[in-house]
Amino acid sequence: MDKIIVRGGHALRGTIPISGAKNATLPALAATLLTGDRIHLSNIPHLKDVTTMLELLGQHGSAITVDERLGVEINNSGVNNFRAPYDLVRTMRASILVMGPLVARHGMAEISLPGGCAIGSRPVNLHIEGLRKMGAEITLDEGYIRARANRLHGATIYLDPVTVTGTENLMMAAALADGRTILENAAREPEVSDLAIFLNKMGARIQGAGTSTLIIDGVEELHGTQHRIIPDRIETATFMVAAAVTHGDITLTDADPETLETPIQKLRDAGVIVEFPEPDRIRILAPDPLKPVDLETSPYPGFPTDLQAQMLVLNSLAQGVSRIAETVFENRFMHVSELQRLGADIRIHGNIAEVHGVDHLLGAPVMATDLRASASLVLAGLAARGATVISRVYHIDRGYERIEEKLHALGADIQRTSA
Ligand code: EPZ
Repeated sequence: MDKIIVRGGHALRGTIPISGAKNATLPALAATLLTGDRIHLSNIPHLKDVTTMLELLGQHGSAITVDERLGVEINNSGVNNFRAPYDLVRTMRASILVMGPLVARHGMAEISLPGGCAIGSRPVNLHIEGLRKMGAEITLDEGYIRARANRLHGATIYLDPVTVTGTENLMMAAALADGRTILENAAREPEVSDLAIFLNKMGARIQGAGTSTLIIDGVEELHGTQHRIIPDRIETATFMVAAAVTHGDITLTDADPETLETPIQKLRDAGVIVEFPEPDRIRILAPDPLKPVDLETSPYPGFPTDLQAQMLVLNSLAQGVSRIAETVFENRFMHVSELQRLGADIRIHGNIAEVHGVDHLLGAPVMATDLRASASLVLAGLAARGATVISRVYHIDRGYERIEEKLHALGADIQRTSA
């Protein structure tokens, strides 16, 4: 199992590119199942989760050509298997995103229930109930969701709580349904909006992208197109925090600051300087001591839950006390015990982490538990004195493209070992 060793204390300096968004790539790949025409997707990040989704499409019968530089070309005219097997789904819950497209275009899908994961039980009841409202007959047995429909019909569906992939699954299903579907309390994440744009390029008729009400008028069929995946806002903000906690000065290219208003405001509240030298460039410098910032995670445009762990590291090194409330997932503080091993003073009260800033962290062996938690351990290692050895780094590879290479390019003392 690979490990990452970080020797902290180096202020990050330099310029690195931001990769395409994992959470825009996964629904876009699933959406290709809605047509038998050729689709080209560019700016695809090289991530384990993307490889898993391509593997899943391949076993459905997709013809896939991957060009490292140019992206992927997918032809689903030969799709003839509508089963998403447990051994794939359990490694990546976003596999559930093939359910809507398969039922909408082929009238059937057998999807393994994703099961829980480290950050919570992660139910998919809203995906299932939404498809039922659109006319699908769905049974759950032997750990599989079996869905059947002659043709889905439009429905008005209220989503509570806000669900990102639930919104995406139902939007994709509605694109080929008979009639109008209205998704109320829909997710407003940029990745959801980007999927709506992509679907409309395929001939779908979706209104309201970016708002909490999506109106989808189904069409008979969708056609081929090409699409460029948007930048990864979570990767962007993760590197912004890396600059903050090492008091560095870095520039991120191929970024989209407009999707990061809330995190940028919080970083500025912490005393970090954030500038936009170009529309797709963000410069972050942190010469001064960090100030603690209180925050509460919530659906977009609120503060992203995927940045909660990273901000715990920043607050751990700020001068004062702060509170971070996690309202989206029920168990997303596993990284806290690992950060405490590095000397962080974090006290958990229910869904609130009370952070007492310390002068410095001390490197130690730690273990990654989930994708964003593992990124926070890297950030802590970058700031800590001495060496931090992170195990189970496969979690990091799911969501960060070549993280040690990008950080090394910024002057970090970081390397991966295959133990
Ligand atoms: C997406 O997960 C992201 N994944 C997650 O990113 C992200 O943390 C999450 O949205 C919240 O922003 C992808 O986009 C592939 P939800 P998703 O459905 O869609 C409850 C990462 O690190 N819920 O928005 O699975 C659920 O339990 C990952 O890249 C139901 O109750 O999350 C949670 O409490 C981690 N029933 C809340 O909604 C449902 O049917 C939000 O979950 C669905 C969700």
